[in-house]
Amino acid sequence: MSSHDTLLIVDFGSQVTQLIARRLRELNVYCEIHPYQNVTDAVLAEIAPKAVIFSGGPDSVTRAGSPRPPAKVYELGVPILGICYGQQVMMQDLGGRVEGGKISGGGGTAEFGRAYVTPAGPLPLLDGWFSDGDEQVWMSHGDHVAALAPGFEVYGTSPNAPYAITADPARNFYAVQFHPEVHHTPRGAKLYENFVRMAGFAGDWTMAGYREQAIAAIRAQVGDKRVICGLSGGVDSSVAAILIHEAIGDQLTCVFVDHGLLRKNEAEEVVAMFRDNYNIPLIAADESELFLGELDGQSDPETKRKIIGRLFIDVFQKYAGEIEGAEFLAQGTLYPDVIESVSFSGGPSVTIKSHHNVGGLPEKMGLKLVEPLRELFKDEVRALGRELGLPQSFIGRHPFPGPGLAIRCPGEITRPKLEILREADAVFIDQIRKHGLYDEIWQAYAAILPVRTVGVMGDGRTYDYACALRAVTSVDGMTADYYPFSHDFLGETATRIINEVAGINRVTYDITSKPPGTIEWE
Ligand code: XMP
Repeated sequence: MSSHDTLLIVDFGSQVTQLIARRLRELNVYCEIHPYQNVTDAVLAEIAPKAVIFSGGPDSVTRAGSPRPPAKVYELGVPILGICYGQQVMMQDLGGRVEGGKISGGGGTAEFGRAYVTPAGPLPLLDGWFSDGDEQVWMSHGDHVAALAPGFEVYGTSPNAPYAITADPARNFYAVQFHPEVHHTPRGAKLYENFVRMAGFAGDWTMAGYREQAIAAIRAQVGDKRVICGLSGGVDSSVAAILIHEAIGDQLTCVFVDHGLLRKNEAEEVVAMFRDNYNIPLIAADESELFLGELDGQSDPETKRKIIGRLFIDVFQKYAGEIEGAEFLAQGTLYPDVIESVSFSGGPSVTIKSHHNVGGLPEKMGLKLVEPLRELFKDEVRALGRELGLPQSFIGRHPFPGPGLAIRCPGEITRPKLEILREADAVFIDQIRKHGLYDEIWQAYAAILPVRTVGVMGDGRTYDYACALRAVTSVDGMTADYYPFSHDFLGETATRIINEVAGINRVTYDITSKPPGTIEWE
């Protein structure tokens, strides 16, 4: 899509490869992660990287058939930085020797956790390091380098890693045993900064620049054809829509489907935001009768999800069919989704929940995809949203799942239950906002439980629903922890919900982390 310089990260399967990309994006350097097996000579030629980083990985280079980059990468004449397994790969490929540790059966010592590196010679990669003595780093390796490849020298040592920092400055090859990308290497970001400076990156990957490039690319891709975009009210689809609108104006039509499972006032707010601020052609479709009708009597979580997914496609197709000449479907796919779809292991993982989006639509409808956020991380999408003038209230919104309140109403869904749920949820979110906690929380919501419990209000007996409040912190939704509200906050919120929401007489707070729980109840 773009004309900026690219740093290629060859992924050997480390758990923290994405963090390398984060560190680089923070330096305004554009990078792409590619699993090692996809990095062929042709891919190298196409990407034409200005520098390359080899990630860590779980394998052992001492094992025959272990992951390697193509030999061509060493002939590109660009700087290479190898990290942990990446260091070992470089040494082995370039004529050094790696010895197995405990894990791969070699008997040497493995090293996991905090370590301190002592300098062993000046190196521009280490500018800004060692000013306060030894540097703390994070080690996580079973194998270790036993003999350096020709041309390499040692520039830093740690008690268990005599080759902690190695380099062949003449060829601009650098290889470290530790992980500079993780938080526990406090000055790791400085290493990346030095590396990209030495590689000659301009640090010009900004959202303003991205906006210009993305607009040009959308125009080139779409020409004079029409695009449709499903709006969910979330940040990703909103930013995608506004960006595309800026590129092609009224050739874009957005479709917002109200499936009757939205939060209080949500449909009105989303529609108003788009109509008032952007003047984007928008079809606001109230299909709540259809969805709630088909969900009637269903209580199995996967059945509910499948029904919603199927109806969503039907409805979207119906409205899209009314837009003459639509050839493209816009989606707010983000970079982490792209990386996951070419995951290192490549193996199918267990389906915990069938998340629904408009996947499957393009083939069915013969549409081509426009995905202008494919290169971005979530926080970059937010930055782009700001750049495009999206109101902060929209940019900072908590994610909301496609199936909506259906998965926050375990068991059977009824209209009265949804009404109660909307009110309880609104009070909870109001409390969070009033206490200034909204931006500290990844997601917060109320779920209505499929039980009624006995209570006493005034002098009377009540027999009403119980609700569960859920609030979690997370960086990507993959793992999460419950938010540690004060007891005062929880007490005040429970009292408000019971006083203000007819139909609820008991409030619980869910303190399950993910894993073992999931963020949504279904
Ligand atoms: P779980 O419940 O799997 O949720 O821990 C992780 C994140 O994904 C959201 N979620 C969904 N988003 N369609 C979506 O667009 C779905 O079907 C869906 N299910 C869960 C959830 O809100 C959380 O942010």
